[in-house]
Amino acid sequence: MLTLCFGTRPQVIKASVLLKSLRSRWPVTTIDTGQHYDYELNGLLYRQLEVPPPDHFLEVGSAEPAGQTAEVLRRAAQVLQRNPPAAVIVIGDTNSTLGCALAAQKGNFPLVHVEAGLRASEPNLPEEVNRRVVDVIATLLCAPSPANAARLRSERVPGTIVTTGDVARDVLVRHLALARRTEGPTRFAVATIHRAAITSDPDALRSVIQAMGKLGMPVLFALHPRTRLALERFDLLRGIPASVSILPPLGYLEAIAAVRDATVVITDSGGLQREAYWLGTPCVTLRSETEWVETVECGANRLVNPQDAGEELVRAVQEQSRKQQECPWTTDAYGDGHAAERVTEAIASGFPQLHSTH
Ligand code: UD1
Repeated sequence: MLTLCFGTRPQVIKASVLLKSLRSRWPVTTIDTGQHYDYELNGLLYRQLEVPPPDHFLEVGSAEPAGQTAEVLRRAAQVLQRNPPAAVIVIGDTNSTLGCALAAQKGNFPLVHVEAGLRASEPNLPEEVNRRVVDVIATLLCAPSPANAARLRSERVPGTIVTTGDVARDVLVRHLALARRTEGPTRFAVATIHRAAITSDPDALRSVIQAMGKLGMPVLFALHPRTRLALERFDLLRGIPASVSILPPLGYLEAIAAVRDATVVITDSGGLQREAYWLGTPCVTLRSETEWVETVECGANRLVNPQDAGEELVRAVQEQSRKQQECPWTTDAYGDGHAAERVTEAIASGFPQLHSTH
């Protein structure tokens, strides 16, 4: 038996395809930490992506980062102790990923890290320490790209490294046909922001939103709860430009439809950067660096430091928007849409004792 852990919006998306593939071979129990609990962030995705209700729901919810991680660790450890798996699978780099990975390590269960080997140099990025710690303690590391695998090798992590591709592409390939056309204007930008670098900096948030009003096209701005709270706290809701429409967080199908149909994407989300790349829509990323370097190297993505967004954001969006008429880029940097099968194969070869549980 395997245990698959998730808890935030992007993890529910990736778990949907992993769970189907893993369950075709072995029994799998699931743990949802409950880090995300809003219907739009979590429940809607369960429905759209047909994720069965989790076997264990930890109801961790929001807290300061240390408390949130500690609660995930404590509650996940209890579940693993009561139902010992042959291996624990974690995804990505959130506080849920770290908490569940530590629970596996403390209980002596082999650990599989899906989305291993991503790196940034921002020392204060919460996800950075999470992913580095998980990569060091993982038994099997599934890297989305060859560069991610090379990075892990250069760091001499003790686990086995396999390049599998990105499971997020599998989900996109399977669901794109179900994504209905976005209603409204033909030329528009779709925007999302959720990272602390912008949401905890009122000046950066204000300048990004003001720049969104100067793009010469309407902006659909899907608000993450953290960003809505920040806009309220800094009293910025009243200053939203008329061309910027505020929306609740989008469901998965609505999000990929908006990215596909948009002229340009403006985001600080790793997920949207790749979806824009796969769908041939140019992207402007509001960060000084990205873990998804391949998207920048081919011109699909361009970085703008949110601390001095303003005119630079307007210029970057205008230049990126022109790319839509030209041919986009090749889209094979993160595999071919069969990453979940490769993760499953890597687990089968890495843990031969699993065969007996079938
Ligand atoms: C988390 C991940 C991030 C991932 C993102 C996707 C960490 C450190 N960060 O950030 O890597 O890209 O999820 O969305 O784990 N909130 C709600 N409803 C919810 C969940 C959160 O209102 O369902 C609010 C809470 O008030 C909380 C804030 O949003 O203070 C932020 O939640 P948090 O758990 O810190 O994660 P994200 O910012 O979503």
